[in-house]
This record gives sequence, structure tokens and C-alpha cells, in this order.
Amino acid sequence: MNIPRLHPDTIDDVKHRVDIVDVVSEHVVLRKQGKDFVGLCPFHDDKSPSFSVSPSKQFYYCFSCGAGGNSIKFLMELGKRSFSDVVLDLARRYQVPVKTLEPAQRQELQRQISLREQLYEVLALTGRFYEHALRQSQGEAALAYLKSRQLRDDTLQQFQLGYAPAGWQTLYGYLVEQKRYPVELVEQAGLIIPRQGERGYYDRFRDRLMIPIHDLQGRVIGFGGRALGDEQPKYLNSPETELFDKGKTLYGMDKARTAIAKQDQAIVVEGYFDVIALHAAGITNTVASLGTALSLAQVRQILRYTESKQVILNFDADAAGTKAAERAIGEVADLAYQGEVQLRILNIPDGKDPDEFLRIHPPAAYQQLIEQAPLWLDWQIQQVLNQTDLSQADQFQQSTQEIAKLLGNLPNATLRTHYIHQCAERLSQNNARLAVQLESDLRTQVRGQRWHGRSQKWQRPGDRTLLEESEANLLRLYLHMPTYRSLIKESLEERDLDFSLGHHRFLWQQVMQLEELSLSQQNSLPLNSPDRSFNHASSLPTALAAPSPVPLPDLISLLQDCCTDHPEQATLVYPLFQLNEKTKRDIVRAPLVIRASIASMERVMCEKRRRHFLELWKQTDYVNAPDLCQYYQQQIYAENQRIEELDQQQRQVTFDDLAQIPWVGEFYDALCGAQE
Ligand code: UTP
Ligand code: MN
Repeated sequence: MNIPRLHPDTIDDVKHRVDIVDVVSEHVVLRKQGKDFVGLCPFHDDKSPSFSVSPSKQFYYCFSCGAGGNSIKFLMELGKRSFSDVVLDLARRYQVPVKTLEPAQRQELQRQISLREQLYEVLALTGRFYEHALRQSQGEAALAYLKSRQLRDDTLQQFQLGYAPAGWQTLYGYLVEQKRYPVELVEQAGLIIPRQGERGYYDRFRDRLMIPIHDLQGRVIGFGGRALGDEQPKYLNSPETELFDKGKTLYGMDKARTAIAKQDQAIVVEGYFDVIALHAAGITNTVASLGTALSLAQVRQILRYTESKQVILNFDADAAGTKAAERAIGEVADLAYQGEVQLRILNIPDGKDPDEFLRIHPPAAYQQLIEQAPLWLDWQIQQVLNQTDLSQADQFQQSTQEIAKLLGNLPNATLRTHYIHQCAERLSQNNARLAVQLESDLRTQVRGQRWHGRSQKWQRPGDRTLLEESEANLLRLYLHMPTYRSLIKESLEERDLDFSLGHHRFLWQQVMQLEELSLSQQNSLPLNSPDRSFNHASSLPTALAAPSPVPLPDLISLLQDCCTDHPEQATLVYPLFQLNEKTKRDIVRAPLVIRASIASMERVMCEKRRRHFLELWKQTDYVNAPDLCQYYQQQIYAENQRIEELDQQQRQVTFDDLAQIPWVGEFYDALCGAQE
């Protein structure tokens, strides 16, 4: 494609007119923080808001992955679009007149701007055409149908429901003959179909109830058309077009995203009408996939809005729905096993879909079902057990194997043990002797499974184990050694580090909240009150006993209380509340462990940033963007250097050297024995 060269004035004008907060907030939920805004970074799998946007500098920057730049760069990277494409788009939005260098190119330019723009226009107009038709006499049956589904008028309006009239060329006549849109454009919008072997076109949607599908900005990008009777197919959908990508679109996302962010939870359902009914019932954090299997890309889109990554799949309980749920779980299994999405599965009793359920139950009843929905792994285990007649030896055998397969993928040992025990009990049906035997069998099988599963892509023992261990070390020290709390906190802040495993982040958030709470309570106490002076480490040599800003001696028991509300996180963080031989040793050499752990965490971050810049650098054309190329090179170089430094530090003191010191365990026991 011949890319027109834009006049520098146009580029300058655009740069001056756009507002980065405007641009970014169409894609990222932003929260005000001081004079800047923060949110989850759209360029990497962000766990906590590390993405900041500065309106004064008109610049964005991600503290985790290092992505940064102005509005134009943001849109280029996000949509993998070219510079001129983005500038033109912005020029249009901010009404900047476009000048090109050579007048001859103007026409080509116009063509490019217009294609997408005109598609939006045609689709929007079509949406209004259908909406209008619903209110005409020809739409009577469709309107009656909607009323029979107990839909209110404001709901019809909110979702812009409409009716496609029955003729072969009604829409064609309107758009092509009356409004003079080029027929190719209307075809490209997916609205008309060329007649086979003949000249001419006919309407894709005829005598159907029309449901417009919107993008995140609320623009119509396609339609779903429902038959009014039993005609097949029940739903006819727009084909994929320049604007409509089914695998990346979620129905209702434009209306649900604020609620998802606010409630920190998303519900995914199967059907258009399920979304509509749920929104009408005030349950607005709901979206649907578009008759296709829920894809990883779709789940990632949802995860951008929920900070604690809670997603509930409410699929039909019939065979098709179960299969859809299983496929969706398969898609996100990697994330789910690592605790990076808190996935729950809801099957409504009696095989109803949400829309049917809400016709006979109040919204609160649905909310209750949501709250009781089992975690995906429990749901899957239940599926296996449901299919099995446990009295049949061969079936029994098979379900044990399937369960072993499920559990073998769990990276967390504590959780594995928990589930093995639970499954053994359920499989043994109250036969205690059998349960013991089964538990040991299952454990062996799970171990075998893990061995075979090693090569699976989600297991990257290197980075992951190092990171998990380092984060756990820090948290454990934080919990058990109040003396080191400020050091840990400062070290994390100084290097802009955050916990990246879901359950660690959860624990850290709880800790921060408890401390804030206690700080506000303590501020109302006299300085030297006994409540303040109690300190776990008060028996330590004074050199170690730097005062912690907020001593919270009973932090662990407070946290245990918090965890009872979050059972799935609790199982994962519970091991951090206890000390074993190894972790007792860590306690004594706390400063070293902190240093080593922080360094490991930073190294993983550096690696991540280095990969990111390398990728950008590879994609950048040196001739067109020498500055950018050079910038990326510098960044890569800087990350390399930092990694070298960190490795150097790490070589000086390794964990293992320290583990050799024999007196460490005894020292600890002498120190803390009294408190156990
Ligand atoms: P369902 O068959 O469960 O329909 O399809 P529904 O949503 O409950 O619809 P109502 O309540 O009978 O009107 C679920 C989703 O699967 C896609 C649609 O997106 C639908 O909402 N689908 C279904 C199709 O794309 N084509 C079909 O023929 C059927
Ligand atoms: Mn339905």
C-alpha cells in the first residue's frame, strides 16, 4: 500500500491537540493518582497497575515492562498500526485538517481514511434503520416477540435492538439506492451478499430481530440476527469484516467494562439475550462470547478490567455448554493453574440459561448463585465424578487417572496435597481404609503426571521458580520478622518492584491494608503506649532492631482472619504463615535473604524488559526511525548491564553458601524458641 507522506504541520497539529488521557482511557481503565493516572498496562500481562499516564507530559510509561511514549506511539503499539494511520485517525477525531506533501497523494489518503470510517458510518446507519423498522408496522411481530421475552422499553433502547424487514432488498434499497453508498462498501460491511451466478445483491438479514454488536468505544461493528420463529439458523451473525473480529470481540463489553472494574469481577455468559437480561436486572458486569469458543485473547481483554482477576463462566448446563466451559478452561488453564485468573464455573440448576433464570427469579438469587459458584478445578473434578459409576472397576480406574491428570498440573504443592486428600475421600465414599490406599495411589499417579507434564509450555521452571521462591522469602520474612519490615518495603519501593504471583500480591495487599488500618488507629494513641512498644523482635541485638514504622505483632493472626474470606488464596499463602527448618534458617540471615530475593525479582523484571525492548527493536525500521531504534538499543544495553550487576552481586553470596553454616538453626531456636 502506498502510504501518503503527511505534512509536518499536520503531525504537529495532531500532537498538540490530542490528549493522552483521552486516548489511553479508551483502552485502559485509569484511576487518578496525584497529578497522574494509573492503570493496568495493556502491553504486558500486568498484575498490579504499573502503567502511568502523565497529562502534563502527555506521556505514558509502564514501570513493569518499560513501554512508554506519546499518544501516537500508544495507538501504534496497541493496534499494531502504522504511524500515518494513527495520525490520520487522530486528525479526524480532533478535526485537524490533513495536508500531505504531494497533492497527488491526497486522493489515496482520502480513500484510506475513509474505508474504516465509512464502514462505521454504514453500520451505524444500518443500526438506526433496524431500530426504526422495529417501531413500524412491519416490525410489530418482532416487537411483540421482545415484549413476550419481558424486555422493557429502556432495555431495547439501551441495546439498540431492531428489526430487519422481510424483503430481499430492503436494506440494499435504502443504503445503495437511496443513500448512494457504494455497493462494495455495503458488501464489505457484511450487510449484503452478491447473488450467485447473477448480477445483483440481496440483504443478509431478513425478517430477523437485530442485535447490534459494539466495539469498546460503542461503535457498531456487526450484528447478530435472531429468527423470530423456529427458522434455522436461530442466530445469523455478521461475517468477519475489516472491523469485526469475532475471536477478539465480547458482546456487551462497551457497557460492562466500568462495572467489571468497579466490582472487580466479570461474568461471561453464552448468549446475547443472557447479557441483555442480566444488564436489565442490574447485573452489569456481564459479557458474552459470540457463538465461538471463548478465546484466550477474550479472557485477557476481560482481565484488563478486573484487578483481582475474577472471572465467572456461566455456561449452559447442557452437553454443549459443558463442552464450551471445558474448552474455555482449556484455553486459560495456564493462567488458572498459576493462579493468574480466579476462574469459577456456574451452572444454573435445572439447565436454565441466565435469561430464563431471571424470568422466574429475582436478581439477588442470581447473585447468590454467582457467590456459590465452584472454583474451576473443583468443578472439573465434579464433572469427572459425575460421569463415573464408582462401583464399576474400569470406570473407577479411569476417573482416578483423569483426576491425577488434573491435579498433576497444579504447581503448588500444598494445594496438590489438599486436593489429593479431598479426591481420595470422595472416591472412597466413606470407606476409610480405601481412602488411605487411594490417597497414596493418587499421589503416585500425580507425581508421574507431573513428571510427564514437565515439557508443557506453562511450566517455565527457571524464572518462575526463582521468582516464586524470592517473593515467598520476602513475604515470610516480612510476616515473621517485624524488624525487617521497613527494609523490605524500602527495597521494593526503591526498585519499583511488586509481587507478581497472584496469591503473593493478594497477601501483600492485605498486609498493606492492615497496616494502614493500624496506623490510623495508632495515631490516636499516645506514643509510648504499651500497644506500640510490643515487638516480636525485641529480644534481638539492638543493631538489628531498627524500629518498624508500623509494628503489627499479630499480623499473621490478623491475616489468617482476612484469609477466611478468600479460601482459594488462603490455601496458597497459608504455607507462608509457618516456619520449617529451612525457612527458620532464612530468618536468621534475613538481610542476605532480602538482598538476594530483591535481586532475583529485579533480575526477572530486567529480563522481561529486555525481551520487550528487543522485540520492539526488531520491529522498528532503522531507516524510518533511527532515533527510536537507538533508544531501544540503549534500553537493551542498560538492562543487560543491570542484569550483569545483579548477577555479580548474586555470585558473592549464594543461598547455598549460607545453608552450609551449621550453627544457624540452633541460633534461631535459642532466639525464638520461647515464642513458639
Ligand atoms: P443459544 O442457542 O444458547 O441461544 O445460543 P440463546 O442465547 O439462549 O438465545 P435465546 O434465548 O434462545 O434467544 C447462545 C449463543 O450462541 C450463538 C449466539 O451468539 C447465541 O447468543 N449462536 C447460537 C449462533 O451464533 N448461532 C446459532 O444458530 C445459535
Ligand atoms: Mn436463552
